[in-house]
Amino acid sequence: MEPYTPARRVLVAKPRGYCAGVDRAVEAVEKALDQYGAPIYVRKQIVHNTHVVRTLEARGAIFVDETEEVPEGAIVVFSAHGVAPSVHDEAAARRLRTIDATCPLVTKVHNEAKRFAAKDYDILLIGHEGHEEVEGTSGEAPDHIQLVDGLDGVDQVSVRDPNRVVWLSQTTLSVDETTETVARLRERFPNLIDPPSDDICYATSNRQAAVKQIAAESQLVIVVGSTNSSNSKRLVEVAKDYGAAASYLVDDASLIQDAWLDGVSTVGVTSGASVPEELVDGVLRRLAEHGFTDVEEVETVQERMRFALPHELRRDLRASS
Ligand code: F3S
Repeated sequence: MEPYTPARRVLVAKPRGYCAGVDRAVEAVEKALDQYGAPIYVRKQIVHNTHVVRTLEARGAIFVDETEEVPEGAIVVFSAHGVAPSVHDEAAARRLRTIDATCPLVTKVHNEAKRFAAKDYDILLIGHEGHEEVEGTSGEAPDHIQLVDGLDGVDQVSVRDPNRVVWLSQTTLSVDETTETVARLRERFPNLIDPPSDDICYATSNRQAAVKQIAAESQLVIVVGSTNSSNSKRLVEVAKDYGAAASYLVDDASLIQDAWLDGVSTVGVTSGASVPEELVDGVLRRLAEHGFTDVEEVETVQERMRFALPHELRRDLRASS
């Protein structure tokens, strides 16, 4: 008689994958291609996912780094990460037709930055240097905003009046790390003002909470996401902090190494906010080939958030329907 080998287990975090802002941005490019025809120019990656970008390229989207690469008069979509006002000005100077797919939750942070800058506060923006979202938000009030890139950045901050300082943040940071950074900032500036509402968005915090739940029971956590995706990278860190012996970021199933699975009985799986579900399905198929057939979804919260398409696109879609 064959010895009994129990099925290896997979815990799949929920929520995972597409957030409302990514869903809206990707749909905006798809609908723009349907409505106006190819090519549609997109400034930067519409969302930080290689597969999404390649799929849209195949349909006729052209991704550029700057608006100056877009032919005069053409249509350009701004990515979910948001842009500085100077980018809107450059686009207007080139007579580009713009569709702004900035996530409304990023726009909210822009508006907070504008409001506090108008009141002449020093704004400490916690975020990752060079990230597109941080560049866009900083561009709203460059004279008032200083970037604080993690705990190490706290000591470098200097403010004009310690009683008129507010902190804001990038939407896709680690919740725990940001709490630590704010605590350290508050040691330096006891009257530091909090943002009017959380800047780390619901999708980022929900995905981190869900991965915490599965990490403790998994020897390995596979996070599906691209290497330039901030929220995906944070999921790897959180998984390790909350009990997974190992955690890896993979763009798709082909990047999973067999050696990672040696001696592992439970694998956790999740995906970043810019990741289509078909890539997670591919990972689950690959795991099943290795005997990981006992699949359980672990849901921590239900998400119902939806955002309407950018208004300039809705207007044209309405007019032609
Ligand atoms: Fe928006 Fe958060 Fe997604 S800011 S694009 S809902 S990760």
